[in-house]
Amino acid sequence: MCGIVGYIGNREASPILLEGLKRLEYRGYDSAGVSTVATGKLLMHKRSGKINELERELTMRGMPGTLGIGHTRWATHGEPNSENAHPHDDCTGKIALIHNGIIENYSVLKKELQAKGHHFKTQTDTETLVHLIEEFYKENGLLEKAVRKALLLIKGTYGIAVICSDEPDTLITARNGSPIVLGIGNHEYFVASDVAAIAEHTCNVTYLDDNEMAVMHRENLVIKTIDDRPVEKRVEHVAFDLEKIEKGGYHHFMLKEIMEQPQTIFDSMRGRLVEEEGTAKLGGIQHELESLLYARRVLLSACGTSWHAALIGEYMIEEYVRIPVEVEYASEFRYRDPILDRDTVVIVISQSGETADTLAAVREAKRKRAKVFGICNVVGSSIARETDAGIYLHAGPEIGVASTKAFTSQVTVLSLMTLLLARMSSMSSSRGREIVQELKILPEKVKQILNAHKDIEQIAAKYANKQNFLYLGRGYNFPVALEGALKLKEISYIHAEGYPAAEMKHGPIALIDDNMPVVFIATKDSSYEKIISNIEEVRARKGKVIAIATEGDDFIKTKADHTIYIPPTLEFLTPILTIIPLQLLAYYIAVKRGCDVDQPRNLAKSVTVE
Ligand code: F6R
Repeated sequence: MCGIVGYIGNREASPILLEGLKRLEYRGYDSAGVSTVATGKLLMHKRSGKINELERELTMRGMPGTLGIGHTRWATHGEPNSENAHPHDDCTGKIALIHNGIIENYSVLKKELQAKGHHFKTQTDTETLVHLIEEFYKENGLLEKAVRKALLLIKGTYGIAVICSDEPDTLITARNGSPIVLGIGNHEYFVASDVAAIAEHTCNVTYLDDNEMAVMHRENLVIKTIDDRPVEKRVEHVAFDLEKIEKGGYHHFMLKEIMEQPQTIFDSMRGRLVEEEGTAKLGGIQHELESLLYARRVLLSACGTSWHAALIGEYMIEEYVRIPVEVEYASEFRYRDPILDRDTVVIVISQSGETADTLAAVREAKRKRAKVFGICNVVGSSIARETDAGIYLHAGPEIGVASTKAFTSQVTVLSLMTLLLARMSSMSSSRGREIVQELKILPEKVKQILNAHKDIEQIAAKYANKQNFLYLGRGYNFPVALEGALKLKEISYIHAEGYPAAEMKHGPIALIDDNMPVVFIATKDSSYEKIISNIEEVRARKGKVIAIATEGDDFIKTKADHTIYIPPTLEFLTPILTIIPLQLLAYYIAVKRGCDVDQPRNLAKSVTVE
């Protein structure tokens, strides 16, 4: 989703801004722009398309200035073209603004501003805010005051950065609902929507909270609330490994992240397994463990891939901890009037920790006094900071727009949480030790599946020209079917549906003919016999069967057109293995179809708008 970078200091701003924007490319964007202040003038350059093209133009024309802002835009209001790209300037050409989020009352404000003579050049909601700032700036001649007054009239969400050619020693940023991090350097400050954009310059950061505004001059930084009340902020030290956000020899981030999974799954468990006691240790939820253990009901909420992980969590917690669990899309949860009480624990799952709907679900749940736990990957993200307790995935930055390693880490962390709770209730120590032993060897098993990537690539080549796919699974592997289908559709643009296998005969079976590939997750577990019957139903209608099966199951080969084996494991841990071939299948099909896997059309990495 949109990215923000800002700089004030003594170095040339534009190279810093462009580098920062490149670090945010993975979030998805359709246009980009940069603005600086030099010799009392506001300079601006923006265009649709890639940052490399913007960079080429800037190198040719030059863009001096030691104060500047840069933006990557993911269109919400108005087409993705050069005009609608940020920054936006006011009528005087002195003030420039970049914005992430959505201004909900922009059309009313725009009409009022037009009536006062403001001339609008774009179809964006953002442009309204820069004219509003201009209006107040005319009154008082102080950028800080003008921004403050303007923001008090805004309804909606924003992360913004503003500069003005009359104030070459001022960079202003503010947040309400869209993340902003400030980097503190030596006589210089950085602003970004994601720490990755500024990590190469400083490890000292502070995160803005909602309704806060920071005013930076080269020699000082002041953070207050939007309505001008002082706030205390902590400077945090972030250790960010830049290598982790490079492609490291792979063609795509997605493939790199799929291949990293033996390590990332291991990292999610590192230091958390207690072998001799057959349990897990999760420091981030320790202080709230009782509320979870004695909850009468658990509500899991998330979006997209994280929602699929939540479904697996539901099966795990109900089977082993025997607490009733419900799973709800965060976007639905937040707009209903969910029934929550003190005995309900809400657990949200989010890779980015910034998904607008999930964050809103956290706030709604807290408003209703439920305890809220978070399972997040991005350290210091809004959800991580706003939940009562939480577990980090430690999967490292996920750059690929299609989530892969975060999913397996989410399921791993859910299994650790289940183990811990089960051991505190009815699970025996011997069963706990068996689970710990199995968790320990999972990364090796994932490695083994990844080693067969060439076979999966061949299957992908055979089916890359198909227009529809079905994914079927039962029990723990039903959510895996949903996730496999999501992976395929989002990067290859093939229509794919996931179903619980038994549901097929209630409708989707009508789709099956000799042109329909059906991916079955048919591991040797409690529903094996049933899934074999479902495979027969597909074969009888000449559908093509791709089976994900358990090593040693030769029988299934007589039923499937293609078989991809995974090593055996405990049933509740199978999703961590069965998803791997489905990620690879989606990846290779997309590559064969010539799709841009890391920048799929219309998608953004972190969905910070509703
Ligand atoms: C799919 C994908 C999305 C995200 C969803 C939630 O590959 O990446 O469906 O899972 O947008 O994002 P997070 O987990 O960051 O809240």
